[in-house]
Amino acid sequence: MRQVLASRSVASCVVSAPERPAGNANSRKGASVSGNIVDLEEFGPVFTENPYPIYRELRARGPVHRVRLPGGLEAWLVVGYEEARAALGDARLRKDWSFAAPELRRMRTGSEENTTQLFGRSMLSADPPDHSRLRKLVSKAFTPRRIEALRPRIEELTADLVGALPAQGRADVMETLAYPLPIAVICEILGVPALDQDRFQEASNKLISSDAPTPDYFDSAARLNAYLDELVAEKRRAPGDDVLSALVHVTDEDGGRLSDEELRGTAFVLLFAGHETTVNLIGNATLALLTHPEQLAEVRGDWSLLDGAIEETLRWEGPVEATTWRFASEDLTIGDTLVSGDGGIVLVSLVSGNRDEAVYEDPESFDIHRKTGGHLAFGHGIHYCLGAALARMEARIALRALFEGFPGLALDVPVDELRWRPGMPMRGLLTLPVDLGGPAPLYGGREVSAAAA
Ligand code: HEM
Repeated sequence: MRQVLASRSVASCVVSAPERPAGNANSRKGASVSGNIVDLEEFGPVFTENPYPIYRELRARGPVHRVRLPGGLEAWLVVGYEEARAALGDARLRKDWSFAAPELRRMRTGSEENTTQLFGRSMLSADPPDHSRLRKLVSKAFTPRRIEALRPRIEELTADLVGALPAQGRADVMETLAYPLPIAVICEILGVPALDQDRFQEASNKLISSDAPTPDYFDSAARLNAYLDELVAEKRRAPGDDVLSALVHVTDEDGGRLSDEELRGTAFVLLFAGHETTVNLIGNATLALLTHPEQLAEVRGDWSLLDGAIEETLRWEGPVEATTWRFASEDLTIGDTLVSGDGGIVLVSLVSGNRDEAVYEDPESFDIHRKTGGHLAFGHGIHYCLGAALARMEARIALRALFEGFPGLALDVPVDELRWRPGMPMRGLLTLPVDLGGPAPLYGGREVSAAAA
């Protein structure tokens, strides 16, 4: 659909790798990518607006590349599907910051000795056995039964949001539905009724928009930490029947409580994941269907097709562009590329793997009938998304309410004028202006009580 093509080819953005002292996180040896670095920053805003032609060209040149990320850091970038799965399942690629090269630790935390993320420790920054311990504690809240039990509340929240839209006129789907719904849901789960959304959202936006830490990043992390500590303290003072209270008071099987750092990290990861990813799924799926009206008409005629539309959105325009950082703890090969075990960054582009022509036929086209099994949108391996079932349910309820409530819904700007969030971690729209398309028979006022998803 979007026709913004990379004005520069990958070849024109290849720079020679400078000689680096051995042991440097950004040093490399024996790589098969002809000793060159692809400078992603050189592509400019095109890489944010439409990275797919660039990923396609990178895949044609090989499944693994040495790149300079927007912001200047060097990393290994995995763009092929098979290699992505292999990397995500490789225990030698660590999440724990103690395996990161010293200069990365200094840059990220201000000190080489400090091996924790600024906002604490969570399963997402841990390797087994810590990872298993931290994940197990939280998993209980995300069993299929617990998620299913949330359905009526999610339907109610959705009906409130969609019902609050004017019967006709214009609206921004991101502001009115895609943002507020997931944060409201995760707040319910965590027991954070009066979350200061603006405070959290502003800080978390800054964190995810930066591919490399800036002074802003440290400032945002500090504010987020203060906020999370207040939340945890509040749960200590007045525990409720919610996940955060349970975590504060939990004693795991070995009798050890979560440390303060682990509590803060876990609260952060849940709030952040609940806030930043599902937002993009709702936005990206709405856009995909609006720009494929014949498929949208099929869905409207048979709502059982909505699941296929959501899975295809996850494959075709997934909410998470690239995984969190992994660190090579020893020399290893990914595909045919030797990655040195110097603690440098390894990133997996999920959106590129999901468009790998070796796996999906005609991967650049959106097709709600496609068999999407095995897509990488929720990751792979031990860090596979804990909230996948919840995210799918939220998207299903939100999309049905929106499209059923507004049969004439249409994009309100040319597709090329839509702006995407900067930074590689996420793939999502900044705004999604729509024309609500005339009187809405179902949700055109506040009377509606629940969406029928
Ligand atoms: C469409 C929405 C979502 C997408 C696309 C998504 C995607 C992902 C991905 C790709 C990972 C793995 C990252 C990596 O390996 O570096 C991940 C991990 C995780 N996600 Fe999600 N996520 C979504 C929604 C959610 C929600 C709603 C929650 C919970 C409220 C959640 C909780 C988590 C947690 C806790 C992890 C860490 C798992 C671990 O380290 O073991 N996610 N997610």
